[in-house]
Amino acid sequence: MNDLLSLTRAARLVGVSRVVLQKKIQCGEMASFDGMVSTDSLLSCYPDAQLEDTVELKRISQIKERAFGKRVFERAMPDAEVLAARVTDLSKELAISQSQLKKLNVLLNNLWKRLDASECNAESREAMANLKLWIKHEVSSAMEPGFSNLLAIKDNMLRVMTAQVTLLPSRQDFLLEGQDTLLEAAMRAGISLNYGCSGGNCGLCKARVISGQVKKTRHHDFVIPEAQKNQGCILLCSNTAVSDIVLEAEVAGSVQDIPFQQITAKVKAIDTLSADTLLLHLQTPRTQRLRFLAGQSATLRVGQAFTAELPIASCPCDDRNVLFHLHRQTGNLFSDYVFDRLKCNDAVEVEGPQGEFILHEKSPRALYFFAFDGGFAPIKSLIEHAISLNAETIHLHWIASNRGNIYLPNVVRAWADALDNFHYVEHIAGIDLRAVVGKREEKLLNQLGRIVDSDAELIRGDVYLAGPASALNIAEQFFLGLGLPKTRVSVNLL
Ligand code: FES
Repeated sequence: MNDLLSLTRAARLVGVSRVVLQKKIQCGEMASFDGMVSTDSLLSCYPDAQLEDTVELKRISQIKERAFGKRVFERAMPDAEVLAARVTDLSKELAISQSQLKKLNVLLNNLWKRLDASECNAESREAMANLKLWIKHEVSSAMEPGFSNLLAIKDNMLRVMTAQVTLLPSRQDFLLEGQDTLLEAAMRAGISLNYGCSGGNCGLCKARVISGQVKKTRHHDFVIPEAQKNQGCILLCSNTAVSDIVLEAEVAGSVQDIPFQQITAKVKAIDTLSADTLLLHLQTPRTQRLRFLAGQSATLRVGQAFTAELPIASCPCDDRNVLFHLHRQTGNLFSDYVFDRLKCNDAVEVEGPQGEFILHEKSPRALYFFAFDGGFAPIKSLIEHAISLNAETIHLHWIASNRGNIYLPNVVRAWADALDNFHYVEHIAGIDLRAVVGKREEKLLNQLGRIVDSDAELIRGDVYLAGPASALNIAEQFFLGLGLPKTRVSVNLL
């Protein structure tokens, strides 16, 4: 087991999130060396950590897996060759350690014999006896199975089942599990690498391997020039990591890094969420997926060019299955068409993505999401992304005009049940949030005031608001009036 561990690996070993370890480093409880932590300092902070993953991490991975649907079944175990290569590496390390241990044993025996053979006076004899006792005690306690051995076992298992990928120059890292490609593993970890088709055709996911070993697991038609191949260039959508690797790869840091796309998708399913709300599930072609950042929107075109810009209600980690929530607006041609005529397998033109309502991923603050009625759609995308990133604390307040407008209570309650760090409160405003004027404004302000009074931490968090303009204008002014800077109040007017 290496003495220095990356934060990602250390967090996985002791069953906490990276943010928790980062906080320990910031407050001086845990020493870090160039972004790594030593096993000793990890053990001193977590002497009672469990060998198995904590219940919390299991729950988080279940939620991530559900977000990936069927693909999860394809990725349980690493590719056989990858597995063999990792076991071989581990066996080499084991052989070296065994040989060193043998040499140490011989050394210890020789030392013992020399101590026994040494002639000395009574005083030295007593010192010698004490020294021998001390050596005996130290050797036997070093041989006892303890937590450090358990940590080493778990680390070895982790190294066989996963590989750590570090990206430069962003210095982000993530674990690649099972048969994921580098691109899939990054998306699952909430990292938006540069890519296009996901199928080996466009070359946009080209990256350079700086160290470590990769293996091509999927065919690609895109031809990498020989000179670039020699420099270590590979396609992220066609390769997996055999060992821990360091890659030079571009990561999207802002909406400007995401290209505008035009895709013809098919309707995979249309489900009724409430009397006037539909879940529209679109599936893109395998080789042309929709790349977007959580919280963004897309423009849909159906029938005879009926269009609407809708927030995407799913996570960028599944770029093929893109979800939208549609609320009936009588007289609106797009809405009427989707509610009355659209059916499974129909084509839908998708353009986008648009919008700047995205997560401030580098912020260390707690996340406070406020969904007003149908504003839940982009909030859902952000929350799923925040879960992928293992965000430390997530609060959701769903403020609805009436109970019927809380149209996906089961999804939210499942998050609340599964994640200890997810806090959900629903509020029935009893007013139409699309027309907040006069006394209704006062009612909404009182509601927001009660929420703030019930949570002293809220004004120290990042606030995300989505919903009808009428309610949001008031809510935004309310939070700015509390002294929150504009950079910490993100707004998505629907
Ligand atoms: S994403 Fe197009 S080749 Fe990899």
